[in-house]
Amino acid sequence: MNTKKALTELNNIMDLYEGVLRKKLPVKPKKIDFSQEKVKEKAKDTAVKKEERHVHSTLNTIPEDFSQMSLEKLGAYVNSCTRCSLCSQRTHAVFGEGCAIHPKVMVIGEGPGEKEDLTGRPFVGPAGEYLDKWLKAIGLSRETNTYIANVVKCRPPQNRDPEMGEKEACKVFLYQQIALIMPTAILCVGKPASTLLTGLEDSTMASLRGKLFLFDSSIPVICTYHPAAVLRNMELKRPVWEDLKRLSSIINPQIRG
Ligand code: URA
Repeated sequence: MNTKKALTELNNIMDLYEGVLRKKLPVKPKKIDFSQEKVKEKAKDTAVKKEERHVHSTLNTIPEDFSQMSLEKLGAYVNSCTRCSLCSQRTHAVFGEGCAIHPKVMVIGEGPGEKEDLTGRPFVGPAGEYLDKWLKAIGLSRETNTYIANVVKCRPPQNRDPEMGEKEACKVFLYQQIALIMPTAILCVGKPASTLLTGLEDSTMASLRGKLFLFDSSIPVICTYHPAAVLRNMELKRPVWEDLKRLSSIINPQIRG
C-alpha cells in the first residue's frame, strides 16, 4: 500500500473510532482528567473574592447537529457557513489554530482582521505578533500548548465590532470548539470574547479584567484587554501583565505567582 492510501485508511479508521466513542459518550463529554480537578481546586484557592466568580453554564446548549461534529468537520462547516451576512465579504473564514488537544490555554479574540481574512489564520497581523509575545512570556505558544480562536469566524467590515446577531450565529462554533478541545483555562482578549464567555453582556473591560470566572461551571476564564487596544494605549500593559500572571498561576498551580 502506498503512503497516501495508508494515510487515507488511517483517517477513515480514526473517523470510525471517533464515531463509536461519540455514540457512547453523552452529548457533552465530561472531563475526568485529574489535572483538571487540580486546576479547579487551584481556581477555588486563587486569591479572588467569592463574589467575583461567576458561573455560566453553556456547553450543554449546543444543538445536536453541532455537538456531534469533530473539530475537522466543524472547521469544514465554518468554511462554507452562511449563518450571518459576514460570509458575503469574506476571503476566508478563520476557524482557529494551535494545540487542539487539551491545550493549557485557549485564547479567544474578537474576529479576523484583514490579514487573518486573507490567510485564514487567527492573529497573524500586528496584534497577533504582540499576542505571541504575551504567550511566550508565560511559557505558552500556539505551536505547543495554546489554541487560538475568535468569537466570530468571518471578518466584520472595516474591523468594526461584531454585532449581536453575528455573535449569536457564530457562538455555537466556539462552544463546540471548547467542548472538543477542552482547554485547561481560557484567556479572553477584548470585550466581545469577555462578555460572551462570562455572560455579562453589559460589562466594561475594566470591570471584567482582574477577576476569575468559571465557564460552564468548570473552566477557569481570565479576561484582559485586546492586544490591539494595548498597542494603542500602553497604559494597559500593566493590567494585562497582572492578568497574564494570574493566568500563569492557574495553569501552573505549583508556581506561586
Ligand atoms: N484580532 C482578533 O480579535 N482576532 C484575530 O484573529 C486578529 C485580530
